[in-house]
Amino acid sequence: MASQGWLGDALSAIGNTPLVKLNKLTGASDADVYVKLEFYNPTGSYKDRMALAMIEGAEKEGLLRPGDTVVEYTGGSTGSSLAFVCAVKGYKLRVVTSDAFSDEKINTMKAFGADLTIVPSEGGKTTPDLIPRMMKIAEEMGKAPRTYRTDQFHNRHMLKGYNKMGEEILTQLGGNVDAFVASFGTAGCSMGVAEVLKAAKDTTAAVILVEPAESPTVSKGLSGTHDIEGIGSGFVPPLLRKALYDEVLTVSTEEARAMARRLAKEEGIFSGASTGANVAASLAVARRLGPGKRVVTVAVDSGLKYLSTEVYS
Ligand SMILES: Cc1ncc(COP(=O)(O)O)c(C=O)c1O
Repeated sequence: MASQGWLGDALSAIGNTPLVKLNKLTGASDADVYVKLEFYNPTGSYKDRMALAMIEGAEKEGLLRPGDTVVEYTGGSTGSSLAFVCAVKGYKLRVVTSDAFSDEKINTMKAFGADLTIVPSEGGKTTPDLIPRMMKIAEEMGKAPRTYRTDQFHNRHMLKGYNKMGEEILTQLGGNVDAFVASFGTAGCSMGVAEVLKAAKDTTAAVILVEPAESPTVSKGLSGTHDIEGIGSGFVPPLLRKALYDEVLTVSTEEARAMARRLAKEEGIFSGASTGANVAASLAVARRLGPGKRVVTVAVDSGLKYLSTEVYS
């Protein structure tokens, strides 16, 4: 009998995620909204794509060798994905994270065997100084011998991981995409997908970015405190390229959380606040574009990562 499914190691299960259409949150006079279900990746997040691309990029360039240690600062999504990839490939991982991020992510990194340094936050919130403080500690750790810093905010290898997501979207919709909507932290996902969409012949997709209304760094030059995990780091991410996006919308923490809850209850899509932000912004774009058009956005990760947080409790 012919065998079916994935027959490689656990890394071969990354990518090729489903794309589904919203049916209840959109109205008759709106464009269709499609959501890429990235919680189908092994750790329940699109970050698996970039973690694999960062590690394989470093291996190819001879920057990372068997027995080396990987170091990264992370809100816990990248850390969980890196911990997973490092477990499969046999690298040690040291992670700098914070209590601003969910216990589920911290416990996932531990489950995959990562060594954690936890930086205290102000009341569990992402303040503009938090990520830079974490980056500094990771930079110091990276000075140890046989240590490789993935340094996600400056890592260009990761774009390759997200190029694949862009290719999957084009294939799934036969190239018919009018807008791609994505919130951003490092901007790896949005820029990686945008590279492919903007280069595609016969596709004229607008790329629309989303940031927290409390921290509109790119749209208004202001940074503030918010509680949408993974986005709105308080500074302009170095990977962001003006030529690859058309507009930046804002969504508040409360709107993002409320939309995540509605997505679960009304569409059966179980996710977190950054996905809520993606969908809230996508619905605004769908209203503007009208019937016959197609908006694509991303369910970044699984709601299981946020059960203990204010998104669901
Ligand atoms: C939960 C979550 N949503 C969205 C993002 C933003 O993705 P990117 O860094 O590719 O812009 C991140 C990144 O850390 C994240 O953890």
